[in-house]
Amino acid sequence: MLEVFMLKIKENYFILETEHTSLVLKNDGGEVVYLYYGEKLNNYCGIELYEDGWKSSILSQCGTGNHREPALGVRFSDGSRKTNLKFHRARIVPFEKIEGLPCSYGAEKSLRLEFIDAPSKLKLYVTYTAYEESDVVSVATSLYNGGKKPVYLESVPSVQLEVRGRDFSFITFDGDWASERRRHEHKIGVGKLVNESIVGSSSHHHNPFTLIERAGEVYAVNLVYSGNHRTVVESNDAGKTRLIAGISPYAFDWELLPGASFFAPEAVVAYAATEEEASLCMRRFVSEHIVRGKWKKKPRPVLVNNWEATYFDFNAEKILSLADVAAEIGAELFVLDDGWFGARDDDFRGLGDWEDHVEKTGGIGILADKIRAKGLKFGIWVEPEMVNEDSDLYRKHPEYAMKIPRREPTRMRNQIMLNLADPQVQGFVYRAIARVIEQCKAQYIKWDYNRTMTDCFDKSSHSGEYYHRYMLGLYNVLEKLTARFPNVLFESCASGGGRFDLGMLCYMPQTWTSDNTDARDRVYIQAGTAAAYPQSTMGAHVSICPNHQTQNSNSLETRFDVACGGVLGYEYDLTKLTDAEKKEISEQISFYKTHRELLQFGTQYMLGNAFEGDMSGFITVSPDKSKAISVVCLPFRRVWYHTVCTKFQGLDEKAVYAVSYRDAVGNLVKLGEASGALLCKGQFRLDTVYDTVDTKRYSNPMYTRLYLFEKVSAKRRKTNE
Ligand code: GLA
Repeated sequence: MLEVFMLKIKENYFILETEHTSLVLKNDGGEVVYLYYGEKLNNYCGIELYEDGWKSSILSQCGTGNHREPALGVRFSDGSRKTNLKFHRARIVPFEKIEGLPCSYGAEKSLRLEFIDAPSKLKLYVTYTAYEESDVVSVATSLYNGGKKPVYLESVPSVQLEVRGRDFSFITFDGDWASERRRHEHKIGVGKLVNESIVGSSSHHHNPFTLIERAGEVYAVNLVYSGNHRTVVESNDAGKTRLIAGISPYAFDWELLPGASFFAPEAVVAYAATEEEASLCMRRFVSEHIVRGKWKKKPRPVLVNNWEATYFDFNAEKILSLADVAAEIGAELFVLDDGWFGARDDDFRGLGDWEDHVEKTGGIGILADKIRAKGLKFGIWVEPEMVNEDSDLYRKHPEYAMKIPRREPTRMRNQIMLNLADPQVQGFVYRAIARVIEQCKAQYIKWDYNRTMTDCFDKSSHSGEYYHRYMLGLYNVLEKLTARFPNVLFESCASGGGRFDLGMLCYMPQTWTSDNTDARDRVYIQAGTAAAYPQSTMGAHVSICPNHQTQNSNSLETRFDVACGGVLGYEYDLTKLTDAEKKEISEQISFYKTHRELLQFGTQYMLGNAFEGDMSGFITVSPDKSKAISVVCLPFRRVWYHTVCTKFQGLDEKAVYAVSYRDAVGNLVKLGEASGALLCKGQFRLDTVYDTVDTKRYSNPMYTRLYLFEKVSAKRRKTNE
C-alpha cells in the first residue's frame, strides 16, 4: 500500500482521511465510485466486501445509461455528446495551486485520479486533498484536450457526491439585497432540486454553500468561486441521493482547443453527524486554508465608516470632524466611503474616474494624513469593476464598458460594468486602484460591486465563455493587487453581502455582510452567514436608529451586542452623539478590544433559531475554553418570560465559570458561578435579558444580553470553599 499522510492507495482502493472522517473510493472496472464517506474508520480490513449494487460514481457522464443528472457535459465537434472517461491511473502528487483561480492552501500532497476518453483523447483529472484538522476534503477537477479538434464543455462539475438514502433535506442559504443568507430547508423526496446563481456573481440570492442532511448524517459543500454557480441534488426511487456542484451551465459553453486545459473551481466538502459540526468544520477550514496573508489571524481594527453618516454629502471638514469623534471613542480605522472621486456627488456619475474630487476632500493624500495624525488608520472605498456613462473614463474609453453592440445596456444603480474579460481593462483597473492606494497610503480598501451582470459581451471570446472569463479577469487583478499591497486589509462588498464566498475570501479576509444594519435582521443574516463563514470574515456595524433600511429602533446596547458577533464598526454621524452615547460607545469599543481575540477568532456556536424569529444568539469560546462571550437575543417580550432558557455550548464541562453580564451602561454584573456541565446541559434562565431596554424610548424592541464566562481557577475555588 502506498501511503502518504492522510492518503492511501491500495490496489484499486483510494482512501483519504481527516481527523474524524474517511473517504473511500474504488476503481470499479474503469469507473471510480464512492464506497464510503463518513465517520473515520481507522481499520479498512474487508473493504473488498463492502460493495454497492448501484455504483455511486464520483463523476457521471452523458450517454452511459445512467439517466440522472449527468455531471459532465461535453459536445464534440461532430455534435455528439457521449463520453467514456475510463480510469487510467492514480498518483499521489505535490499539492498544486489551480491555474488562474483562487483555491485553498496549506496541504502538501494530493491524490490525483486520471481518466481518458480513448476515442477523443480527452483527459480528466480529479484531485483530492485532505485537510486533516478541519475535516474537509477539497476536490479540483480539470480537463485536458489531447485530441486534434476542439471540444465544447457544456457543464464541468467541481464535485459530485453520491450517498445512500432518499430521505435527505437540501439546506440552502437564500435571500436578496438586505436579507442575505436566510436558511431554507427543502425535503428532497424523490426528485431534483437546484440552488443556482446566474447573475454573474455568487449573489445575494443563493449562496454557493449548501448541505444535504438527515438525522445523524450531514454533507456540506462549498465552492471556491465568486461567479455563476449551481448545485443540483437528485434522489431516485432506488434510494440514492446525488449532489453535483460547480459553475452554472447557464450560458456556459467553453471551447477547449487541442492542447488546452480547463480548470473547474475547487469544491470543498465535509461530512459530520450534525449541521452544527459541519459548519464548525467549514469555518475552521476557511480560517486556516482560505483566508491568508498578514491579516489571517491578526486582530481586525474597529472602524468608523462615513457612508450612513453623510452619504455623498460631505467635505473635508465634515470628514475630519467625524474622524475626531472616531479617535475620541477609541476606533482604530477611518473609512472614507463612496463620493470622494471624480464628479461623484450622487450615484449618476463618476464611477471609473479614480481621481480625487479635490473640492470635496481637499486632496485625498492630505486628508488621509490628517486622519492618520489623529491616531487612526485610513481606508477608502472603491468600486473598480464599474463605470458611469457620465464619467471621463467612459467618454475616453467607451470600449472598456460591458456592452452589446447596437443594444441599449441595462443600467442598475445608473451604472454599467467594465469588461474585465478584456486584459486591457484588467490592466486599467489594476493601475487605477494601485494608484489610489499609493496616493493616500491606504491601509484598508473596501472593494464594492453594486449591480448584477447583464450585458455580457466580448468581441474576442466565445459568448459561452463570458461569465467565467470575467471571473478569471477579476481574479487576475486581485491576485496582482493583493501581492503588491500585502499589508492592506481588503474588505469585499457587493451591495452588502452579494459576493460572500470563498473565492473573494482568498483575497479579502473580510466581507461586508449586508447593507441591512438593523440588529433584528442582522441576527438571522449573521447566523446564516456563520453556517459557512467564520465571524472574523463578517463586517458588522452599529448604525443609527431608526435604522435607515428598516426604520426599526433598537437600543445602542442591542446594536452593539449583535455587531460584536462579527468585526465591529460604527457607521453613523458620530458628531451628533450625546455625551452619554459617546461614553457608552467608548465603553463598547474598549470592551470589544479587551475581548477581541476571543470575539473575532474564538469558536462560535449558534444558539436557538434565528430564522424562525425565536430566541437566538451566539456563544464564542476561547481555544482553551477559559473564557467565553455569549449574546442572547429575544425578538420580542414573551408573556411567560421566565420560561425563556438556553444551553451554552462549547464550554469545558469539567470547569466552573464565573458568570456575569454587561448591563445597559456597560458595567459587568456578577450573576454567580456555575459548572460548565450545567451551563452546557442545563437550562439557563434568561430573565435579565428583559431589563436591557428602556421601552419608553424603543417601542417593540429586540432584547439582547451579553454574558461573560470566565473559568474560575481550581485554586481560587478551593480558597473560597
Ligand atoms: C453599497 C455598499 C454600501 C456603500 C454604498 C456606497 O451599497 O454596500 O456600504 O458603500 O455602496 O455607494
